[in-house]
Amino acid sequence: MNLYPLAKPFIGLIGPETAHRLTVRALAAGLGPKLSAAADPILNTTLWGRDFANPIGLAAGFDKHGEAIAASLALGFGFTEIGSITPKPQPGNPRPRVFRLTRDRAVINRYGFNSEGIDAAARRLRAYREGGGTGLVGVNLGKNKESEDAAADYAMGAAALGGSADYLVVNVSSPNTPGLRALQGKDELSGIVAQVREALPDPAPPLLVKLAPDLTDEDKRDIAAVALDAPVEGLIISNTTTLRPDGLESPHANEAGGLSGAPLMAPSTALLAEFFALTDGKLPLIGVGGVFSAADAYAKIRAGASLVQLYTALVFEGPGLVSAITHGLADLLRRDGFASVADAVGADGNRQTSAADR
Ligand SMILES: Cc1cc2nc3c(=O)[nH]c(=O)nc-3n(C[C@H](O)[C@H](O)[C@H](O)COP(=O)(O)O)c2cc1C
Repeated sequence: MNLYPLAKPFIGLIGPETAHRLTVRALAAGLGPKLSAAADPILNTTLWGRDFANPIGLAAGFDKHGEAIAASLALGFGFTEIGSITPKPQPGNPRPRVFRLTRDRAVINRYGFNSEGIDAAARRLRAYREGGGTGLVGVNLGKNKESEDAAADYAMGAAALGGSADYLVVNVSSPNTPGLRALQGKDELSGIVAQVREALPDPAPPLLVKLAPDLTDEDKRDIAAVALDAPVEGLIISNTTTLRPDGLESPHANEAGGLSGAPLMAPSTALLAEFFALTDGKLPLIGVGGVFSAADAYAKIRAGASLVQLYTALVFEGPGLVSAITHGLADLLRRDGFASVADAVGADGNRQTSAADR
């Protein structure tokens, strides 16, 4: 039963952080819907030797501490990503630190990596696996605010969590940890990737880097070069933006932090298409930012995404959205004559250079 329509007016009245905590706790307590991931064969996606029942995943930041892995997947997602997780527990920024921009279908957050730390997350992920959980779980790694050795922090996360993750993410793109986004520079990023690689257990999970949408052209070329040379196994595009697009109407529009949701759809999809071209379609990309509908997810795939994630739309639309998107996506693929998601990846770009044609 979907209780969301009943709960939504109530959730709208309480603060967004409290609503977030209550939702995670309710899911963890088994009060959420219990769907299996939509398994229409056209949505099956194989990547990094893993079989995704569908390409729609829950983005990082919802289940930051790995408290609701099974329940998140039971909303119908093909995969979930827990985190960001910092090595040591830390409280994050003072409250209030999350704001709903209802009229803009957006959120601004400046959580600042509130994290229970890698030990708590590793324990929960192990418990999920030991309980027979076979869902696909990415683990998103952050660094402690006070740490001066970012690479060592990411390496610690990789060592502690890499063994039970289906993929690992180096998050160098949250706007709320001072200096973090500077780690997207060429030397910094290749240093981090090298150190994380050394720390990975054998067999190593795929290693991905999550990018900010606010990059200069030089940043983009450098990152594409590092990603292909290092190499990494994929990029996640994108995190929240520090920009405030024209036309935002909500009173909270000028709060400090990262903006997510509808206003991020166009810029994050444009950046995704740019990286698909810059990497010659050789690197799996996860498209995230402003996905509210099947058409949005399909646009990400056509721009170059092999997988798609969402978070903010859940805040406004509730969990029924996931199966609406997966079913709608299957219809769109069939309408346009594609036999699979992989067939449609990068369809809007230059097909001659896509991995599928090699
Ligand atoms: C409240 C909130 C917290 C977030 N926390 C994280 C985080 O800890 N790590 C991360 O990589 N991304 C985080 N994100 C970013 C999302 O994973 C995603 O990249 C971004 O919100 C764009 O997708 P959306 O428009 O579907 O929300 C967070 C987003 C929100 C709204």
